[in-house]
Amino acid sequence: MNISIRLEKEKDYRTVEYLTREAFWDLYHPGCSEHLIVHKIRKVPAFVKELSFIASIENRIVGSIIYSRAKVINGKDEVFEVLCMGPLSVLPSFQRKGIGSLLMRHSIEKAKELSFKAIILFGDPKYYQRFGFVNAKTYGIQTSSGKNFDAFMVLELSKEALSGISGKFYESQIFKVDDKELEKFEQEFPYKEKHITDTQFKEE
Ligand SMILES: CC(C)(COP(=O)(O)OP(=O)(O)OC[C@H]1O[C@@H](n2cnc3c(N)ncnc32)[C@H](O)[C@@H]1OP(=O)(O)O)[C@@H](O)C(=O)NCCC(=O)NCCS
Repeated sequence: MNISIRLEKEKDYRTVEYLTREAFWDLYHPGCSEHLIVHKIRKVPAFVKELSFIASIENRIVGSIIYSRAKVINGKDEVFEVLCMGPLSVLPSFQRKGIGSLLMRHSIEKAKELSFKAIILFGDPKYYQRFGFVNAKTYGIQTSSGKNFDAFMVLELSKEALSGISGKFYESQIFKVDDKELEKFEQEFPYKEKHITDTQFKEE
Protein backbone atom coordinates (compact mmCIF):
# COMPACT_ATOMS: atom_id res chain seq x y z
CA MET A 1 0.00 0.00 0.00
CA ASN A 2 1.65 3.18 -1.18
CA ILE A 3 0.56 6.12 0.99
CA SER A 4 1.58 9.60 -0.10
CA ILE A 5 1.33 12.80 1.88
CA ARG A 6 0.97 16.21 0.27
CA LEU A 7 -0.36 19.67 1.04
CA GLU A 8 -4.11 20.04 0.70
CA LYS A 9 -5.32 22.07 -2.29
CA GLU A 10 -8.53 24.05 -2.59
CA LYS A 11 -9.97 21.47 -4.96
CA ASP A 12 -9.64 18.86 -2.16
CA TYR A 13 -11.73 20.83 0.35
CA ARG A 14 -15.08 19.11 -0.21
CA THR A 15 -13.54 15.62 -0.37
CA VAL A 16 -11.81 16.32 2.95
CA GLU A 17 -15.12 17.45 4.46
CA TYR A 18 -16.72 14.17 3.34
CA LEU A 19 -13.90 12.11 4.78
CA THR A 20 -13.97 14.04 8.06
CA ARG A 21 -17.71 13.39 8.31
CA GLU A 22 -17.15 9.68 7.71
CA ALA A 23 -14.33 9.49 10.28
CA PHE A 24 -16.19 11.31 13.08
CA TRP A 25 -19.76 10.18 12.42
CA ASP A 26 -21.38 8.89 15.65
CA LEU A 27 -17.99 8.91 17.41
CA TYR A 28 -18.57 11.50 20.14
CA HIS A 29 -22.27 12.29 19.55
CA PRO A 30 -24.94 10.96 17.21
CA GLY A 31 -23.76 12.44 13.89
CA CYS A 32 -20.84 14.88 14.08
CA SER A 33 -19.82 18.52 13.57
CA GLU A 34 -16.14 18.15 12.63
CA HIS A 35 -16.82 18.47 8.87
CA LEU A 36 -18.39 21.87 9.54
CA ILE A 37 -15.34 22.87 11.60
CA VAL A 38 -13.11 21.86 8.68
CA HIS A 39 -15.33 23.87 6.33
CA LYS A 40 -15.21 27.00 8.50
CA ILE A 41 -11.60 26.90 9.57
CA ARG A 42 -10.31 27.48 6.06
CA LYS A 43 -12.06 30.85 5.95
CA VAL A 44 -10.40 32.35 9.02
CA PRO A 45 -6.89 33.80 9.37
CA ALA A 46 -6.13 31.22 12.08
CA PHE A 47 -6.04 28.47 9.43
CA VAL A 48 -2.48 27.29 8.73
CA LYS A 49 -2.53 26.33 5.07
CA GLU A 50 1.12 25.27 5.16
CA LEU A 51 0.27 22.49 7.62
CA SER A 52 -2.91 21.23 6.05
CA PHE A 53 -1.94 17.82 4.68
CA ILE A 54 -3.81 15.00 3.03
CA ALA A 55 -2.85 11.34 2.71
CA SER A 56 -3.73 9.55 -0.49
CA ILE A 57 -3.56 6.04 -1.87
CA GLU A 58 -3.61 5.78 -5.66
CA ASN A 59 -4.99 9.32 -5.90
CA ARG A 60 -7.83 8.64 -3.44
CA ILE A 61 -7.80 10.96 -0.43
CA VAL A 62 -8.02 8.78 2.69
CA GLY A 63 -6.71 11.02 5.46
CA SER A 64 -6.45 14.66 6.49
CA ILE A 65 -4.84 16.77 9.18
CA ILE A 66 -5.66 20.40 9.92
CA TYR A 67 -3.94 22.98 12.09
CA SER A 68 -4.94 26.43 13.23
CA ARG A 69 -3.22 29.18 15.18
CA ALA A 70 -4.29 29.40 18.80
CA LYS A 71 -3.22 31.32 21.89
CA VAL A 72 -1.99 30.76 25.39
CA ILE A 73 -2.68 33.83 27.51
CA ASN A 74 -1.08 34.18 30.94
CA GLY A 75 -2.22 36.03 34.06
CA LYS A 76 -0.51 39.21 32.86
CA ASP A 77 -2.48 39.12 29.59
CA GLU A 78 0.65 38.23 27.65
CA VAL A 79 -0.25 36.29 24.50
CA PHE A 80 1.77 33.40 23.07
CA GLU A 81 1.02 31.76 19.75
CA VAL A 82 0.73 27.98 19.57
CA LEU A 83 -0.75 25.53 17.10
CA CYS A 84 -4.01 23.72 17.63
CA MET A 85 -4.18 20.33 15.89
CA GLY A 86 -7.46 19.02 14.62
CA PRO A 87 -9.45 17.56 13.14
CA LEU A 88 -7.30 14.54 12.21
CA SER A 89 -9.31 12.10 10.13
CA VAL A 90 -8.75 8.80 8.37
CA LEU A 91 -11.52 7.10 6.39
CA PRO A 92 -12.89 4.24 8.56
CA SER A 93 -11.95 1.50 6.10
CA PHE A 94 -8.35 2.79 6.05
CA GLN A 95 -7.88 3.21 9.81
CA ARG A 96 -5.19 1.35 11.79
CA LYS A 97 -2.87 1.13 8.81
CA GLY A 98 -0.48 3.83 9.95
CA ILE A 99 -2.03 6.71 7.96
CA GLY A 100 -2.90 8.85 11.00
CA SER A 101 0.63 8.36 12.35
CA LEU A 102 2.17 9.36 9.03
CA LEU A 103 0.08 12.55 8.96
CA MET A 104 1.01 13.34 12.56
CA ARG A 105 4.75 12.75 12.13
CA HIS A 106 4.94 14.61 8.81
CA SER A 107 3.07 17.66 10.11
CA ILE A 108 5.06 17.76 13.38
CA GLU A 109 8.30 17.96 11.38
CA LYS A 110 6.89 20.71 9.14
CA ALA A 111 5.61 22.64 12.18
CA LYS A 112 9.14 22.52 13.62
CA GLU A 113 10.55 23.81 10.32
CA LEU A 114 8.04 26.68 10.46
CA SER A 115 9.32 27.50 13.98
CA PHE A 116 6.04 27.05 15.80
CA LYS A 117 6.58 26.61 19.54
CA ALA A 118 4.08 23.92 20.44
CA ILE A 119 1.06 21.93 19.36
CA ILE A 120 -1.99 21.64 21.62
CA LEU A 121 -4.82 19.19 21.07
CA PHE A 122 -7.78 17.38 22.63
CA GLY A 123 -7.54 13.65 21.95
CA ASP A 124 -7.01 10.15 23.23
CA PRO A 125 -3.76 10.07 25.27
CA LYS A 126 -3.18 6.42 24.27
CA TYR A 127 -2.89 7.57 20.68
CA TYR A 128 -1.04 10.89 21.04
CA GLN A 129 1.55 9.89 23.65
CA ARG A 130 3.41 7.98 20.93
CA PHE A 131 4.19 11.30 19.21
CA GLY A 132 5.48 12.83 22.46
CA PHE A 133 2.35 14.65 23.63
CA VAL A 134 2.01 15.10 27.40
CA ASN A 135 -0.72 16.41 29.68
CA ALA A 136 -0.90 20.21 29.28
CA LYS A 137 -0.70 20.44 33.06
CA THR A 138 3.04 19.67 32.72
CA TYR A 139 3.47 23.17 31.29
CA GLY A 140 0.92 24.93 33.48
CA ILE A 141 -1.45 25.27 30.53
CA GLN A 142 -5.20 25.03 31.19
CA THR A 143 -8.26 25.15 29.01
CA SER A 144 -9.96 28.54 28.60
CA SER A 145 -12.22 27.54 31.49
CA GLY A 146 -9.24 26.72 33.69
CA LYS A 147 -9.44 22.91 33.46
CA ASN A 148 -6.96 20.10 32.94
CA PHE A 149 -7.71 16.51 31.96
CA ASP A 150 -5.84 13.67 30.27
CA ALA A 151 -7.19 14.41 26.80
CA PHE A 152 -5.83 17.98 26.84
CA MET A 153 -2.25 17.60 25.61
CA VAL A 154 0.80 19.53 24.48
CA LEU A 155 3.85 18.81 22.36
CA GLU A 156 6.77 21.21 22.69
CA LEU A 157 8.36 21.57 19.25
CA SER A 158 11.86 22.56 20.35
CA LYS A 159 13.78 22.44 23.60
CA GLU A 160 12.53 25.03 26.11
CA ALA A 161 10.12 26.45 23.52
CA LEU A 162 7.48 26.73 26.24
CA SER A 163 9.83 27.99 28.89
CA GLY A 164 8.09 30.92 30.60
CA ILE A 165 4.85 30.18 28.76
CA SER A 166 1.83 29.10 30.76
CA GLY A 167 -1.77 30.18 31.07
CA LYS A 168 -5.09 29.50 29.45
CA PHE A 169 -5.54 28.04 25.98
CA TYR A 170 -7.85 29.73 23.47
CA GLU A 171 -8.63 28.14 20.12
CA SER A 172 -10.38 29.80 17.18
CA GLN A 173 -14.02 30.71 17.78
CA ILE A 174 -15.04 28.56 14.82
CA PHE A 175 -14.68 25.43 16.97
CA LYS A 176 -17.92 26.45 18.65
CA VAL A 177 -20.61 24.99 16.45
CA ASP A 178 -24.15 26.25 16.30
CA ASP A 179 -26.79 23.49 15.97
CA LYS A 180 -28.81 25.42 13.40
CA GLU A 181 -25.74 26.07 11.28
CA LEU A 182 -24.82 22.38 11.45
CA GLU A 183 -28.30 21.30 10.48
CA LYS A 184 -28.18 23.56 7.42
CA PHE A 185 -24.67 22.42 6.44
CA GLU A 186 -25.70 18.76 6.82
CA GLN A 187 -28.21 19.27 4.01
CA GLU A 188 -25.30 19.66 1.60
CA PHE A 189 -24.37 16.00 2.24
CA PRO A 190 -26.16 12.73 1.50
CA TYR A 191 -28.46 11.67 4.34
CA LYS A 192 -26.74 9.55 6.98
CA GLU A 193 -28.53 8.00 9.93
CA LYS A 194 -27.35 8.97 13.43
CA HIS A 195 -26.83 6.37 16.16
CA ILE A 196 -26.02 6.19 19.84
CA THR A 197 -22.76 4.24 20.22
CA ASP A 198 -20.45 3.09 23.05
CA THR A 199 -17.73 5.55 21.96
CA GLN A 200 -20.02 8.45 22.90
CA PHE A 201 -19.76 7.55 26.58
CA LYS A 202 -15.97 7.56 26.94
CA GLU A 203 -14.78 9.83 29.75
CA GLU A 204 -12.44 12.72 29.00
C1 LIG B 1 -7.58 8.51 15.29
C2 LIG B 1 -7.20 8.27 13.84
C3 LIG B 1 -6.88 9.58 13.16
C4 LIG B 1 -5.94 7.39 13.86
O1 LIG B 1 -5.52 7.18 12.55
P1 LIG B 1 -5.13 5.72 12.07
O2 LIG B 1 -4.58 5.80 10.71
O3 LIG B 1 -6.33 4.84 12.26
O4 LIG B 1 -4.06 5.33 13.17
P2 LIG B 1 -2.65 4.64 12.95
O5 LIG B 1 -2.84 3.47 12.03
O6 LIG B 1 -1.63 5.63 12.64
O7 LIG B 1 -2.36 4.14 14.40
C5 LIG B 1 -2.92 2.95 14.80
C6 LIG B 1 -2.67 2.84 16.26
O8 LIG B 1 -3.41 3.84 16.92
C7 LIG B 1 -4.35 3.24 17.77
N1 LIG B 1 -5.54 4.03 17.62
C8 LIG B 1 -6.17 4.37 16.51
N2 LIG B 1 -7.22 5.14 16.81
C9 LIG B 1 -7.20 5.29 18.15
C10 LIG B 1 -8.00 5.97 19.06
N3 LIG B 1 -9.08 6.66 18.69
N4 LIG B 1 -7.68 5.91 20.34
C11 LIG B 1 -6.62 5.20 20.76
N5 LIG B 1 -5.83 4.54 19.95
C12 LIG B 1 -6.12 4.59 18.66
C13 LIG B 1 -4.52 1.83 17.27
O9 LIG B 1 -4.88 0.95 18.29
C14 LIG B 1 -3.13 1.52 16.79
O10 LIG B 1 -2.31 1.20 17.90
P3 LIG B 1 -1.08 0.23 17.79
O11 LIG B 1 -0.12 0.90 16.84
O12 LIG B 1 -0.56 0.16 19.17
O13 LIG B 1 -1.64 -1.02 17.24
C15 LIG B 1 -8.30 7.53 13.04
O14 LIG B 1 -8.56 6.30 13.67
C16 LIG B 1 -9.57 8.34 12.91
O15 LIG B 1 -9.78 9.07 11.94
N6 LIG B 1 -10.48 8.18 13.87
C17 LIG B 1 -11.75 8.88 13.88
C18 LIG B 1 -11.58 10.36 14.12
C19 LIG B 1 -10.72 10.66 15.33
O16 LIG B 1 -10.87 10.07 16.40
N7 LIG B 1 -9.78 11.60 15.14
C20 LIG B 1 -8.90 12.05 16.17
C21 LIG B 1 -9.61 12.89 17.14
S1 LIG B 1 -8.53 13.74 18.19
